Amino acid sequence: MSWRIVTTIALSSADPTGIKVDAIVVVVARGEDDTLRLLGGAAAVAAALGGSLATTLKHLGATGKADEVTKLPTNGAAKAPVVVAVGVGKLPEGSTTGYREALRRAAGAGARALAGTEAAAFALPVSGPEDAAAIAEGVLLGAYTFDEYKTGDAKAPLAAATIVGAGVKARAVRRAVARAEVIAEAVNQTRSWINTPARDLAPVAFADAAAKHAKGLKLDLEILDEKALAKGGYGGILGVGQGSANPPRLVRIAYRPARAKKHIALVGKGITFDSGGLSLKPTDAMVTMKCDMSGAAAVIAVVVAVARLAPRVAVTAYAPMAENMPSGSAQRPSDVLTMYGGKTVEVLNTDAEGRLVLADALVRASEDRADLIVDVATLTGACVVALGTRVSGIMANDDTLLDKIHDASGRAGEQMWPLPLPSELREKLDSPIADIANLGERWGGALSAGVFLKEFVADGIDWAHLDIAGPAFNDAPFGYTPKGGTGAGVRTLIQIVEDAAAGVL
Ligand code: BES
Ligand code: MN
Ligand code: ZN
Repeated sequence: MSWRIVTTIALSSADPTGIKVDAIVVVVARGEDDTLRLLGGAAAVAAALGGSLATTLKHLGATGKADEVTKLPTNGAAKAPVVVAVGVGKLPEGSTTGYREALRRAAGAGARALAGTEAAAFALPVSGPEDAAAIAEGVLLGAYTFDEYKTGDAKAPLAAATIVGAGVKARAVRRAVARAEVIAEAVNQTRSWINTPARDLAPVAFADAAAKHAKGLKLDLEILDEKALAKGGYGGILGVGQGSANPPRLVRIAYRPARAKKHIALVGKGITFDSGGLSLKPTDAMVTMKCDMSGAAAVIAVVVAVARLAPRVAVTAYAPMAENMPSGSAQRPSDVLTMYGGKTVEVLNTDAEGRLVLADALVRASEDRADLIVDVATLTGACVVALGTRVSGIMANDDTLLDKIHDASGRAGEQMWPLPLPSELREKLDSPIADIANLGERWGGALSAGVFLKEFVADGIDWAHLDIAGPAFNDAPFGYTPKGGTGAGVRTLIQIVEDAAAGVL
């Protein structure tokens, strides 16, 4: 069930037209007055084809807009029989992160269009290690497919990609590309867990898969089963899980390098299916709810990626896993739970379950003395209303931290945006019979959820919350993002850990 590397990346400084592959990928930008601008290795390809590539592309209807793929034959002018021209849109001026994301998406769209093809050369502009890494990430993420449940002959992903450019043989480039491979594998593993139907990835199976994924690396693994959860008093995880025939789990995976500069705790929501519980979701809203463990999948994949990248920062992943189902044993609206650490919560809506399992894990992470806790969760539909399906919300108990995480997300190539935690929302969560209720003010639901979570983070610990409800699961493919699970959050979390290692966070 685990995702394996299916696309290999090689580096070459040869002329792309002389490389024996099935296709050469080039990028075209939309210039001023809707002209087509050929970038990077496209010039060499144009020269081999007789210098008319831009005109030919125009005749074929190319406009250079992002995600546009135009294929044309080389008729013997190059070793590859086909040129695949991918649009990058209007290139952002003066934004290196924006420019790299455009490259990443173009490489991804190219790789996606090449499913079923053996080998391709990516002759995109490469002016340094970070450009090459962006292209490698785009290729590996764009080539991803999930065919675990297909019995026909699904198109195999592109098998071999060669990144072409002057200077790509440099050691710094090879290192950056190796890092990109680790990151892309983490994202793709996350996607496959998300795409796996909830029937086959209930908490026990998910915890086992996490253990298997962490094997062979220097990681401490702890899995609390339902008995251990009861003994420890993890009332949130147990309360949410009690309606399901599949028992809950808490997975904790720790990476502990020598002389660690910092300890970062990553907490991910792991609802393997969210039916809403007795506060049952309507039919349409339930269909994609196998994605409600996206946060847990992300933090597990990230701690494993971090162990492979080996920075001097301690990282612990916490993945509270439960299935939220209605049944005769399910928790009821109005029940009161005693959470890990002793706080009581009145459950007014069983569909606000993410915050309940996260609360237990946040208390545990606080107890384990993290310097920084970052949680990641498909937490609220309200966040999707606020920011749309492609942008995650960031909330934090410190504004400097909020800015730094926002900046890290941009460099990682993920769209995220700061949201506030208004203090007046806290009293709306007051319960007449418990310490707090799991439902507050109707408006600003993403913020209320954040304000609820904040109550479970110990004083003095930096904390940030990423609401990935919008971007976690994707409707229509674009750039390097396929339909289905996206792996949202993974790249930002890895960037955060690396920023901490570099002393900038
Ligand atoms: N898992 C959902 C949030 C969600 C919605 C994720 C859409 C991905 C896409 C979450 O558990 C939920 O049901 N939230 C409720 C909270 C409400 C009851 C306060 C919601 O957003 O409606
Ligand atoms: Mn829910
Ligand atoms: Zn949920």
